[in-house]
Amino acid sequence: SVMKQRTLPGATDRRIDALLAVLADNAMIVISGAKIAREIGVTRSTVWRWIEKLRALGLRVKGHPRSGYQIERVPDILAPRILRKRLPPGPFGKRIHHFFKTDSTNAVAMTLGEQGEPHGTIVIAEEQTAGRGRAGHTWHSEKTNGIYMTVLLRPPIAPQQAPLITLVAGLAVRDAIVEETGIVPDLRWPNDLLFGKKKFCGILTEMNAEQDQIHFVAVGIGINVNHERIPEELSAIATSLRIETKRTHSRVEIVARLLRHLDSYYNRFLSDGPESIVARVSEVSSYARGKRVRIATATETYTGTTEGLEPGGLLRVRRDDGRILPVIAGTLSEAD
Ligand code: BTN
Repeated sequence: SVMKQRTLPGATDRRIDALLAVLADNAMIVISGAKIAREIGVTRSTVWRWIEKLRALGLRVKGHPRSGYQIERVPDILAPRILRKRLPPGPFGKRIHHFFKTDSTNAVAMTLGEQGEPHGTIVIAEEQTAGRGRAGHTWHSEKTNGIYMTVLLRPPIAPQQAPLITLVAGLAVRDAIVEETGIVPDLRWPNDLLFGKKKFCGILTEMNAEQDQIHFVAVGIGINVNHERIPEELSAIATSLRIETKRTHSRVEIVARLLRHLDSYYNRFLSDGPESIVARVSEVSSYARGKRVRIATATETYTGTTEGLEPGGLLRVRRDDGRILPVIAGTLSEAD
């Protein structure tokens, strides 16, 4: 049965979503304010007000109420109706909750998960005011330049296998970025994507589970896409697709590619098992084997050399004291 999608508090008004869809469907064409108003069921002055709001977000709309409106290309706003057109069939993105602004898409998704929202739902925002990173960090979430998205999953696996879900997501982002930019990023276990030594994507997986059963996981993906520059305090360690490729990229296109690859890796994981994911990560990540790393946990910092992945997706490290142990928690960086 089809579960009707509620509009969450603070989520994008269905009619703004419809307005964006009408503009997108009529790209290059002048369309009268009256016609838009009729199609989406609001007054002409509301259309005008919302168009002003979209302009403030960087959407280039020509015209005014009397002459009609015109856009030069399909807006790169991650609104449900624009996005949905580009998505593959299947569960991913069947339900989309879009926000112009929210605290954290992971926080929203965790709440939705508790309320029974189905597998494959995505929560996506143009801006986050409290983007969450790993280890209590915040995630710099500047307006409309990045992708801030959380995918809600209900994988039929044990909690011990949850790290594999982060790897599945990392592989999907990687392939999407290769397709979009033609350049090949590195995967830093478990959740970062890098160009050279600089990070442009982080993944935060949060889980709601019991001892032996996952209720759901929220896989939060943050990608720096069209940032022209990176704030001073991050510029040594972070980058964006635009900085690396010297051009802007369509976020809609990247999200569409990402969800297609996620669908395929996720199904591969369920049908072929963890080995297929572990093997693929070992193939594409320079961090999987033979890398000198420094690992910082809440209680200690140590260095060692990576020794491949365990079947459950954990990274094995030969510490400098000779012990070979998996990294359970901790932040990895390259060591000399
Ligand atoms: C990291 O520290 O590398 C993980 C960063 C994850 C950021 C994303 S942005 C979308 C989602 N919502 C959040 O609050 N965090 C994740």
